[in-house]
Amino acid sequence: MSLDIKKVRADFPALTQRPRGKHLVYLDSAASSLKPWPVIERIGHYYSYETSNVHRGAHFLADQATQNFEASREAVRSFINASSTQEIIFTQGTTDSLNLLSSSLGEILIQRGDTILLTEMEHHANIVPWQILADKKGAQIAVVKVQDNGELDLNDLKEHLQKRPRLLAITHCSNTLGTVNPIKQIAQEAHQWGVTVVVDGAQMVAYAPVDVQDLDVDFYVFSGHKLFAETGLGVLYGKKSWLEKMPPYRGGGSMIHQVTFEKTTYNELPFKFEAGTPHISGVISMKPALEYILGLGFPAIAEHETNLLSSATEALKTIPGLRIIGNAPHKVSIISFTIEGLHHSDIGQILDQEGIAVRVGHHCTQPLLQRYGISGSVRASFSVFNHLQDIEKLLEGLKKAKEMLS
Ligand code: ALA
Repeated sequence: MSLDIKKVRADFPALTQRPRGKHLVYLDSAASSLKPWPVIERIGHYYSYETSNVHRGAHFLADQATQNFEASREAVRSFINASSTQEIIFTQGTTDSLNLLSSSLGEILIQRGDTILLTEMEHHANIVPWQILADKKGAQIAVVKVQDNGELDLNDLKEHLQKRPRLLAITHCSNTLGTVNPIKQIAQEAHQWGVTVVVDGAQMVAYAPVDVQDLDVDFYVFSGHKLFAETGLGVLYGKKSWLEKMPPYRGGGSMIHQVTFEKTTYNELPFKFEAGTPHISGVISMKPALEYILGLGFPAIAEHETNLLSSATEALKTIPGLRIIGNAPHKVSIISFTIEGLHHSDIGQILDQEGIAVRVGHHCTQPLLQRYGISGSVRASFSVFNHLQDIEKLLEGLKKAKEMLS
């Protein structure tokens, strides 16, 4: 079944706005997705009637909030097919999940002289925490190359894996190129060399089903806000065997079993990694967000976004001097591009005047852009509510930008 785009668009109240008097064309879902009514209403309901803390109270509201909070954990477990809710840790976002891993996993996994393997297409969030760890431990960073068309160089990856790095931290899908990496195959190969695999799934989870058991990765992280849920919420999936061995990341309430001044014992999973009052409304917003995606259906989402990607790619190619950065055969609906002689920020400003929201700049992937010899690009990213008219408006906006700036 294809998406009923008119119905989908009616689910997103943000689309009824007229910024600068123009119909909003939102092409920045890779940065943050707009929110559909079921998520907005669920958050409003929590704050209106259910506000309370979780895992603590001895009263009706606290019980209810705790049940709803844990129901969301089960929804996430099922969404990525983890084997247990003990493997689902709620964090503040993908960045926070990766910092948790670099600190806690890094503590037990990385020793002096070890290598941490990254790729050229990583987001800063999947680079900097590992650099901090490498500095602390006296380890080194190695980097797998990206090919000109935006695909990961799998031969280079193989050569690096044969040198037995301790850890591979890799994105499932590049936020700048849109490239989808063959994570199942990569994890299989990495494990043959005894390499632990951490996957940044932030750009992938809203686009295609992810089955962490089938992928057989050690860790998989993503954010709520790119998945139609609230901002400030992330997920860390980890194999239980790893999470049990890892020391806590933050200390505080909830993550303890018993505290004395002499010794503290820690709570069981997943609570060992959830110190303090969590982002309760955020977690609760996750369940309707996931239900919304599942209600549309991944096959319909993929069909819709693939159509948008190919239409937008063809349309953009008609603009003289436009260079698409990343043409991998397996991409999600993200297109980064430059236009010869024009600065990305100027293009972004003119598009904004037309009500078109794109991201411009380095997209938190400076090493990747350096590899392509550029300092920034314009990025258009599509979601379930975008339609072909959005591509037409983008094209008109870019033509106008060219006229005004050339
Ligand atoms: N990582 C987000 C992006 O790609 C913010 O825009």
